[in-house]
Amino acid sequence: MENEFDIIVIGGGPGGYVCAIRAAQLGLKAACVESRGTLGGTCLNVGCIPSKSLLNLSENYHKAKKNFNQQGIEISDIKLNIKKMMSNKDKSVQVLTKGVEFLFKKNKVTYLKGKGVLFSKNDVVVYEGNNKKSYKAKNIVIATGSEPTSLKGIEVDEKNIVSSTGALSLSEVPKELVIIGAGYIGLEMGSVWSRLGSNVTVLEYLDFITPGMDKEVANEFKKILTKQGINFKLDNKVTAVKNKNNEVIVDFTNNKTKEKKSITCDKVLVSVGRKPYTEGLNLTKVGITRDEKGRIKVNEKLQSSVKNIYAIGDVIKGPMLAHKAEEEGIAVAELIAGQAGHVNYDVIPGVIYTSPEVAAVGKTEEQLKSDKVTYKVGKFPFLANSRAKVNNETEGFVKILADSKTDKVLGVHIIGPHCGDMIAEMALAMEFGASSEDIARTCHAHPTHTEAIKEAALAVDKRPIHF
Ligand code: NAI
Repeated sequence: MENEFDIIVIGGGPGGYVCAIRAAQLGLKAACVESRGTLGGTCLNVGCIPSKSLLNLSENYHKAKKNFNQQGIEISDIKLNIKKMMSNKDKSVQVLTKGVEFLFKKNKVTYLKGKGVLFSKNDVVVYEGNNKKSYKAKNIVIATGSEPTSLKGIEVDEKNIVSSTGALSLSEVPKELVIIGAGYIGLEMGSVWSRLGSNVTVLEYLDFITPGMDKEVANEFKKILTKQGINFKLDNKVTAVKNKNNEVIVDFTNNKTKEKKSITCDKVLVSVGRKPYTEGLNLTKVGITRDEKGRIKVNEKLQSSVKNIYAIGDVIKGPMLAHKAEEEGIAVAELIAGQAGHVNYDVIPGVIYTSPEVAAVGKTEEQLKSDKVTYKVGKFPFLANSRAKVNNETEGFVKILADSKTDKVLGVHIIGPHCGDMIAEMALAMEFGASSEDIARTCHAHPTHTEAIKEAALAVDKRPIHF
């Protein structure tokens, strides 16, 4: 039957589209419902992909402007054309979202355009404009993602007070940009606009940046960003943000001294986290339960309280990361097909794509202390890595945490050039249960940044060669 499927995935982001493709590969009749008009979800349309485009382009601009002259590359007239930069970003997004549509065709996944709503445990209705069509599914996967949160009383207008979506499409460089929240989004977008010429101030509630990151790395990260010109006002609670004559006034109070202050700026980015997006899905009607944060509750097989309805990605617990959602999408498709789908939540890398990048996998030093695990630390600075040295990219270090009894690698934290790519080696090592000795005895090509990993592994046993 044309309207009957083995699996209907609601949401065409990295979790949803990957799940639908994997299900089709396994011989299941699969459909994916998406209301945005393009596939790829937040990640491809208004998240990871456009932000990485702007991070790359703004870094090139900044390097050309600040570094090239000293390096013997003399360019006299460097001009920023923000319109061209934005259209370059938009083109990349367009090509990639179309690419997912092509993958659907190739794998025979049915693409249902419109908003998917649950009507019973086996019925999905898709609304597109005034049209409504009903479909039946043996299994349903909810992959509807998340949306930005704001603060009480602060209205995001996407003009002067923007979320990450607005911050990716500003038509000119703001003179003064205030960012609320020193998390992933705030620091990536802050880097973009600071490199393009904005004076950036980051207001953060906590007295440190990037909660959840290894503290030593977070401290180094803050030092580097401060040197790049980003102003941090930590330990401050934002209390109000008001639009006034095309300016924005941000009020904040110091948590310790209780001193109240204001900043006037052109634009404000509110990046204080994201929340699961489940609006209009009819979850309660079909008996799907949520936790206190509005996330769909799932068991270890990613089944919701209704067994044939699964949930993956940002709508359930865990880090809100595209690659975590993808792994869950694959696991669910394999479980539905009768295989042993599984996600190893201990080995999910995280990357902040600033310059230098920050990347981590596994436990932080703080987590090991609170779990009362005894550990050894091996550290190696990029200053002593020949490739980083010749490229004039010597900031940062690699830090490996290994179990003090077994030497098993428990966590790796890197701040430094290209570490967003380098962390994959460490994730693979941890998947295979590697010890620091295994990494130290693995031949790493010279001269590469990856040698800093080998040296940090040697440093766990206090025997680095180049430091
Ligand atoms: P976040 O959770 O990373 O950081 C939010 C920050 O806002 C926290 O430091 C918090 O203490 C602060 N905050 C909260 N209320 C505040 C207040 N009243 N005043 C001042 N500060 C306040 O959230 P973010 O950056 O919005 O990112 C959302 C999600 O998107 C994250 O889960 C992240 O993992 C994901 N993401 C991942 C990226 C990557 O993998 N590279 C890039 C961008 C986003």
